[in-house]
Amino acid sequence: MARSFDFLVMGGGVAGLSFALEAARHGTVAVLTKRSRSEGNTVYAQGGIAAVLADDDSFERHVEDTIVAGAGLNKRSIVEITVKEGPARLKALAAMGAEFNRKANGDFDLTREGGHSKRRIVHSGDVTGKEVERAMLAACDELPNITFFPDATAIDLIRDREAPHGKARVQGVYVLLDDGVIETFLGKVTVLATGGAGKVYLYTSNPDVATGDGVAMAYRAGARIANMEFYQFHPTCLFHPDAKSFLISEALRGEGGKLRLKSTGERFMKRYHELAELAPRDVVARAIDAEMKRTGADCVHLDMTHLGKAYLVERFPTIYATCREFGVDMAVQPIPVVPAAHYMCGGIVTDEHGRTSLPGLYAIGEVSCTGLHGANRLASNSLLEGLVFGHRAVAAAREPWPALHARLPEDR
Ligand code: SIN
Repeated sequence: MARSFDFLVMGGGVAGLSFALEAARHGTVAVLTKRSRSEGNTVYAQGGIAAVLADDDSFERHVEDTIVAGAGLNKRSIVEITVKEGPARLKALAAMGAEFNRKANGDFDLTREGGHSKRRIVHSGDVTGKEVERAMLAACDELPNITFFPDATAIDLIRDREAPHGKARVQGVYVLLDDGVIETFLGKVTVLATGGAGKVYLYTSNPDVATGDGVAMAYRAGARIANMEFYQFHPTCLFHPDAKSFLISEALRGEGGKLRLKSTGERFMKRYHELAELAPRDVVARAIDAEMKRTGADCVHLDMTHLGKAYLVERFPTIYATCREFGVDMAVQPIPVVPAAHYMCGGIVTDEHGRTSLPGLYAIGEVSCTGLHGANRLASNSLLEGLVFGHRAVAAAREPWPALHARLPEDR
């Protein structure tokens, strides 16, 4: 027997939960996750959420930084929406109970990451995604309209056989449950918030669930897909045979970390970009890759030793402790790092409200291609995108379908 909901959400990260929290005001919501409720890229996000909050910052600067990082292939109108709506979404998240680092006067303590011309990264120590996920799940648990289905793997989208207006409306998904049974989940609206596909690559910062299922299902159903060639590599994952998925946050370079050659200790980033270690991450990742190939080294070094143990333990407690587990004390020795697949900049084409080219199907967060990132995502714009578009998509998802059909996005 089929299960029916008003809103079906595939994925329990920042985008899926943002949608669920807002949609629950208007109907029943099912949130399906492949493993546990929280397992996905969001919970591993270390750096933070980019938002214009400082007096010396501006929307224009954040827009320009995003477009420079994206090599100009971004959609400006989407960048502007995201940047302008970001601070309100961030404050709503804080009001929901997410705890972020604050200064003595109560203002957010803003850090910096590659490609940002200003300090604008709101963070929760070095485990921002974990705190965001915790707060959002707690808020979901207060709402009786939201039902979670963990250990539920979406297999394929269900579409009308005969579609009015020439396009098959998506009606829901077939789902493989933990007990091996395939069940039919029907929804007035189906939302893909399934994240990226880092596990396609040998070295990735992503967890095992990031296998690209959402974009594959949408492709099979005939949805428009774009920019899949733009897979972002994060410059610094811990290089250790037993720790190939552990991210070393860009915030370490934001707080003064230096990249050095393994053999000579030479700082090499100035040879590649005037912003050196704080160049956009594609520049840094390519520079590291080039230096590894040129010198034959298996990694480069990220040197934090000049910042002192007390500061490092306080500012980066999880990274410090994890590196120690793998035999690296970042207070006294450099961290061995390599680039690794990190973020899918392309995905299912959507408009500014998460509508895909298929009626009834929405895509939000990493699985979507809104046009925000262009060829390369700016650091800490991903949780931001999930917050903004998870929220925005709900208004459109409530529209009756003929009105919806008139506004489906065209090819980018
Ligand atoms: C990081 O902490 O370096 C990752 C942040 C991001 O991917 O935006």
